Amino acid sequence: MNKNFTVLGIESSCDETAVALVRADKTILAQALASQHESHAPYGGVVPEIAARAHLAQIDRLLAPLLRDTAAIDAVAATTGPGLIGGVIVGAMVGKAIAAALGKPFLAINHLEAHALTARLTETVEFPYALLLVSGGHCQILRVAGVGEYQLLGATRDDALGEAYDKCAKMLGLPFPGGPALERAARSGNPQAIPLPRPMLGSSGCDFSFSGLKTAVRLAIESHRHQGHAIDDVFRADMAASFQAAVAEVLADRLRHACDWLALRGPVNAWVMAGGVAANQYLRPAIAAAIAPYGLPLYAPPLALCTDNAVMIAWAGIERFRLGLVDGLDAEPRARWPLFSVSASA
Ligand code: KG4
Ligand code: ZN
Repeated sequence: MNKNFTVLGIESSCDETAVALVRADKTILAQALASQHESHAPYGGVVPEIAARAHLAQIDRLLAPLLRDTAAIDAVAATTGPGLIGGVIVGAMVGKAIAAALGKPFLAINHLEAHALTARLTETVEFPYALLLVSGGHCQILRVAGVGEYQLLGATRDDALGEAYDKCAKMLGLPFPGGPALERAARSGNPQAIPLPRPMLGSSGCDFSFSGLKTAVRLAIESHRHQGHAIDDVFRADMAASFQAAVAEVLADRLRHACDWLALRGPVNAWVMAGGVAANQYLRPAIAAAIAPYGLPLYAPPLALCTDNAVMIAWAGIERFRLGLVDGLDAEPRARWPLFSVSASA
């Protein structure tokens, strides 16, 4: 195998249609992304049927420039789960068709594994490392011992963190997608303005819970309204800042618990924060400060590689292809596919 091989990556599991060509020496040769935010904005959330049709409408146009020199493509990687199944099927089938037409191997990529490995593309992060995976659908702490070697330390018992951001943003009347809008609103707010609970703070283990925090935000908004006050920009900013302060405290507490556990049972070299919420510039320093006493650095991909993209899918493909982990064209698209069940064997 040519050591500096090139992988075509395809992502279509949620509301971003994305394609990328990445070389094993970490060079991003080409990438294109079409966000569907405008199509979903009127509904305040991702509508699966609209998403699937939009992927189908965009994917050929995005791929065309990357397929001009097919001789340069050594393997094709596509997200085959977890995600909204209509979109997953679109990307997986297109990826398989290209692999079959070119006579090249197909790599069935777990979207969460792609988030988990991205920091190794942009930084020098050696296994084993601890991972805080925070996206629209997931909130987990894992120990990553190698490609396909994931141990779950803790997870949310209800809402994912990105989901909590999105729902609170919607309640405040902030635009979709809620996560970045809430972060922006919080910049001018007072984090002590509104008392909010810190769910799971101090409890044993590394699990999370965000539904109580979400309910507290809803009740505080209702009570503000009942007192005859408007939901204006000042209130929005204060609520957003108070929400983020609660989230940061909870994350720091859970990460400290994970650090204690890891120190005894499986030391790591570093922490990696990944997934859409890792793009948050307020949470990153709060997390870095929590783990600093343990002597562990925090790595997070650059912002554009935190939210969904195809560079991370191509990179996960590179990590797997290097180990000879190729898949058959019968690899099944999956709506659910927990990261800790991803195997290191094809
Ligand atoms: O990884 P991702 O793009 O898609 C999934 O795999 O779910 O994550 C999307 C989630 C959304 O909930 C979005 O609101 C959140 O990540 N997000 C953020 C920020 N940017 C995206 N949450 C907080 N702060 C941000 N800056
Ligand atoms: Zn994602």
